[in-house]
Amino acid sequence: MDHGWLHDMVARQFGITGPLRQLGGEHDLNFRATGAGGDVIVKAMRRNGDIALVENQCSATAWALRSDPDLPLPHILPAPDGRLWQPLVDDCGHQRVVWVQRAFEGIPMGDAGPQRLETLSALGGLAARLDRALVGYGWTPTSDAAKWDLSKADWIAGRLDVLGDGPRRRLVEGIVADYEKAFPALMDLPAQPIHNDLNDFNILVVPGLIEPARVSGLIDFGDMALAPRVCEIAIAGAYAILDHETPEAALGALVAGYHGVSPLSAAEIDLIWPLLRMRLAVSVVNSTIEAVGRPDDPYVTISQAPAWRLLENEAIDGALMRARLRVACGLLATDAASSIAGWLDQRRGAFAPVLGEDLSGAPVGELSVKASIVPENPFSLRPDEARRLGRPAGTDTALWLGKYGEPRLIYTDDAFRKGPWLASNRRTIHMAVDIFAAAGKAVQAPLDGTVATVENRTGHLDYGGVVILEHRTAEGDPFYTLYGHLDPAMCETLHVGSRIAAGEVFARLGKPDENGGWEPHLHFQMALTLDGMGHDWPGVADPDDWAWWRAICPNPAALLNLPDDKVAYHAIDADTLLAERQARFGSNLKLSYRRPVTFLRGWRHHLFDEMGRPYLDAYNNVPHVGHAHPRIRAVAADQLARMNANTRYLHPAPMALAERITGRLPSELEVCFFVNSGSEANELALRLARTASGGYDIVTPDHGYHGNTTGAIDISAYKFNKPGMGGRKPWVHLVDVADDYRGRFRRDDPDRALRYAEQVDGALAEVERNGGKLAGFIAETFPSVGGQIIPPPGYLAQVYERIRRAGGICIADEVQTGLGRLGDFYFGFEQQEVRPDIVVLGKPLGNGHPIGAVITTRAIAERFAQGPEYFSTFGGSNLSCRIAAEVLDIVDDEGLQANAKAMGERLLGGLNALGEKYPVIGDVRGIGLFVGLDLVTDRESRNPATAAADYVMNRLRDIRILVGREGPADNILKIRPPLTVDAEGIDMLLDRLDLCLKEASLFSNLPDA
Ligand SMILES: Cc1ncc(COP(=O)(O)O)c(C=O)c1O
Repeated sequence: MDHGWLHDMVARQFGITGPLRQLGGEHDLNFRATGAGGDVIVKAMRRNGDIALVENQCSATAWALRSDPDLPLPHILPAPDGRLWQPLVDDCGHQRVVWVQRAFEGIPMGDAGPQRLETLSALGGLAARLDRALVGYGWTPTSDAAKWDLSKADWIAGRLDVLGDGPRRRLVEGIVADYEKAFPALMDLPAQPIHNDLNDFNILVVPGLIEPARVSGLIDFGDMALAPRVCEIAIAGAYAILDHETPEAALGALVAGYHGVSPLSAAEIDLIWPLLRMRLAVSVVNSTIEAVGRPDDPYVTISQAPAWRLLENEAIDGALMRARLRVACGLLATDAASSIAGWLDQRRGAFAPVLGEDLSGAPVGELSVKASIVPENPFSLRPDEARRLGRPAGTDTALWLGKYGEPRLIYTDDAFRKGPWLASNRRTIHMAVDIFAAAGKAVQAPLDGTVATVENRTGHLDYGGVVILEHRTAEGDPFYTLYGHLDPAMCETLHVGSRIAAGEVFARLGKPDENGGWEPHLHFQMALTLDGMGHDWPGVADPDDWAWWRAICPNPAALLNLPDDKVAYHAIDADTLLAERQARFGSNLKLSYRRPVTFLRGWRHHLFDEMGRPYLDAYNNVPHVGHAHPRIRAVAADQLARMNANTRYLHPAPMALAERITGRLPSELEVCFFVNSGSEANELALRLARTASGGYDIVTPDHGYHGNTTGAIDISAYKFNKPGMGGRKPWVHLVDVADDYRGRFRRDDPDRALRYAEQVDGALAEVERNGGKLAGFIAETFPSVGGQIIPPPGYLAQVYERIRRAGGICIADEVQTGLGRLGDFYFGFEQQEVRPDIVVLGKPLGNGHPIGAVITTRAIAERFAQGPEYFSTFGGSNLSCRIAAEVLDIVDDEGLQANAKAMGERLLGGLNALGEKYPVIGDVRGIGLFVGLDLVTDRESRNPATAAADYVMNRLRDIRILVGREGPADNILKIRPPLTVDAEGIDMLLDRLDLCLKEASLFSNLPDA
């Protein structure tokens, strides 16, 4: 449309002569243009609109900026006559008002996807500053302001007919009823001018891949209202948490951010959730009214969908949300919390003993992730494990205590898991004290109470018989105690409302077949409220929710006449661990991830952190047959119980291992050396090559890695090319990595294998020129730190031919690629159809136990044997050899090579499908479970998308998946899980990668799906 009428005016008044680019807007016309001092937004009010509206917007922002000039609010540019807005008649003769404001950087938050908690906290802080700055501004209500004023939102009560008569109407009726209940408290709060529409399109953010998005603008003051400031928070919150992965935490961050700037009262905080829901109810009712006559308009359904998804999310409990928001702001979870705590503390020591005995001398056991190895499989507690959880060592007393606040892995039932994947969040933190004692032991009330719940929960690993008692303090504040794992016989005698006197026996401890299957014990928990808890109390909490659960269910030690500390678990603090590590180790002992992670347990392809959170391990190739394999543990324990000595004595274990390894190799590779590491193996391989060839010089691909010892670093360009490493030694001759995606010769060149191999000719000529003599060629068969590269077919054959012609020895470093990882091949060199002279093995060989191996020909070994004795103190110990032989047997017995092939195909298929969706994926490459995902800023230039790879790797860690990052530009995601990985793990990885790639595309303004 031609807006000539506007163009002339802005040119005349503001010197804006360039084009006006129209932007979106519900009522007004908005244009972006370039003015003398930078980009501006030209706004023309709706036709014949109320001029007071513009006056309000312009003077409200000016007012707020006078008191807080750094707020990111629209700066109105006055016309030369000093006026902030100009009346103007448009080309149709309608009266308009025009004003110009400075443009912001950034994009609407609604286009940037759900935000990180840091951004939401900052947004809360800005909303607080804005509200503070608006205090005292003389706002004039306009005619249509009431519709969006949350303090007048009950107008929707009369319009619910538009929602039809289904469950959605009943849902909104409930929301309106909650609002009406909260209304008197809302009216008790002072009203002030508020923005009143901080929805996700009125908030601008500058997205970030490394740093969280920065809020760069709060715009559109067209819906201001005079209302309590909690309405501002509820409205901002309503939109900020839509489709957020963790809506409760998101709202907590926003509210805490507000509270940090302008402290809120508990009464205000309690209003936020009902108001937030009411705002979304107003939104869906309003848009349904506006769509009357267009019942099938897909836009209405699509635009309402996120609001309905939140409103219909039954997993969010309003009463618990109240406590959560209070705790997020550092307030008490309930009003009476501190007086109850004080009352209990005063009576500590005077309560009736719950099991009839003094517990002060009872030993305390640990069932924590850190201290306990029950269950062996942290995804499945066996019945025999549940029946004998583990009394503290050295005690055979019948009575022992289990800790409050302790993260445990014993809660393995699906009911404890909070998402679809094995590695989804799960509830692990024990919110009670356990008292282990004999079944049949009498349970007494610690103080007078009334039965609130009595029932028998018969599910496996549930409570069996359970009772909840209600008590009152002297001041009349109610609180509650729960007794789980009881003999359900008490269900016959107890009834809701029954009064129990202090010291009265009301139940007995149940046997395993009646208490949920557990070792007999009492689960003793207290709660300050039944709001959101009812009679079905969670006994364990998600670690991410522990901060507020502990405020609702505090340590009940006082009721057991015990000091809190006796039964309180003191969690490992990752920050302390980090500080200690920094104090004791060099700073180049690197940690993975921006937020380092602590792991205490593992099982197959999962790891567990100190809080029991499970992670899918799609990165570690050392635990080849899976973490904590019972057969590895058994064989190690067995050998350690016998003896462990070196190779100077005869023992069958080294022979057994040598036989298994050579049985997989070409027949001429028949002599083995066992060492402690891949580095030591490569050092030895170099010595072998040098004695056999009589030369010293080595040809090797660029950006290779062969280990951390001096000799291994000399042949590892990945290391020696780093600053301060002294660079390449004259006897090392580099050729390009045969990377046919981003290297010199690419997949469109049918002769690329030959072209890369021909570079060896140049290297050999260099050896000649320098007056050196060739010892050989070493390469990782598939370069890993070089970027998970699969060389083109025929490459190594043509390299080896050249090396051998020049008298050199060919060494295959199979540390990354050997032992079945590749699915179709047991070793990488099989794929390249070559027979190396020396093969080097490491990492996966011991499944975490340090052992490496060098295997070579009889002739090469004989030449080496002419030198001094070969001895490695630990290399080839009885223990190491038995473990490594067990690893090789497990690969065969469990069909792990075939699994690597099947899972590799599933993974590569899924990654290729993601490649269709996200242009940030430049290349998907891999064989079996050796996989790389090469991220690019665009597919044409193939420039590395390093920041995107960094984002995806760190974000995956936050959502419980480990992958790595490699390549000269660190832009290649490295995926190489233990070979046990299954379809569930691969599907989780693909699903979560989809999310992260979408976010990375959004946040970096890379092309999206
Ligand atoms: C290909 C390759 N060779 C050798 C090594 C060195 O092994 P280690 O760390 O056991 O000394 C590594 C380690 O990452 C490697 O990836």
